[in-house]
Amino acid sequence: MPQQGLKVERIAGACGAEVTGIDLTRPLEPPTVATIRAAMLEHQVLTFPDQPIDDAGLERFTGYFGPFGIEPFVEGEETHPHVIAVVKEADERRTANFGGNWHSDWSFQERPPSFTLLHARELPPFGGDTMFANQYLAWESLSAGLRHMLGGLNAVHSARRPYGPQGTYADRNKARSMKIQAGEAALAEMVHPVARVHGETGRTALYVNRVYTIRFADMTERESAPLLNYLNEHSVRPEFTCRIRWAPHTLTMWDNRAVQHFAVNDYDGFRRELHRTTNAGERPLSIAESHQAQAAE
Ligand code: SIN
Repeated sequence: MPQQGLKVERIAGACGAEVTGIDLTRPLEPPTVATIRAAMLEHQVLTFPDQPIDDAGLERFTGYFGPFGIEPFVEGEETHPHVIAVVKEADERRTANFGGNWHSDWSFQERPPSFTLLHARELPPFGGDTMFANQYLAWESLSAGLRHMLGGLNAVHSARRPYGPQGTYADRNKARSMKIQAGEAALAEMVHPVARVHGETGRTALYVNRVYTIRFADMTERESAPLLNYLNEHSVRPEFTCRIRWAPHTLTMWDNRAVQHFAVNDYDGFRRELHRTTNAGERPLSIAESHQAQAAE
């Protein structure tokens, strides 16, 4: 039986729910984990207020949802290498913050993370919220004609804009408080379907983002730009979003297969620190691959 008193309440029309009546400082029973996973798949973003866990507790909770993901370019904590500290110092004024543009985590990997978990450690007195946009809704609200065309397209993802030799974080003056290693490795490219079928829900999500998606496969960047720009605008329309206002010890987790997120950089002069883990995910499946997999079952 799942934990008694556990409550899941929606926080917005598009996605996101708050989970209360649960204590993440203690180990969880499998039925409770199953309830949380089902809520994740239903709401795409879950936020758990008032969970005073340390890095070991964050790793334990992450472990309930599968193996850890691989964290490229950012060094993990010395004692807990799967945990990365997302930090912006009070004196880092007018610098790029980590995650400060719409993206789906590490979408340039062959198997991008399924879930990301973020735990608040130190917060500015205002601002520093995180926004999410539901990519199922982004896909479903496109016209049938555009969906038909995009359903057969692939896109190229790369980490080069933030992490390449000329990338945002190659400049040591930007996001300098984080342990980021920019370099040649970020020039690698990975092709994924534009319409991604979720491995657990079977729903289709739009799977492009303005940080890592650099062009459509077999097209130039210039040829790709008009449609990619349109999709990047469309995918984060306000009616697809929810917004998390952090409080000390809030833990939020999200499904990168179904949402994009954006860390709002509006707290210059104040320190913000959150600790982050990911779960390994699957290779993104196209609509055709998903049909083939179903036919083979
Ligand atoms: C991230 O993109 O994982 C960071 C999100 C945040 O700091 O709010």
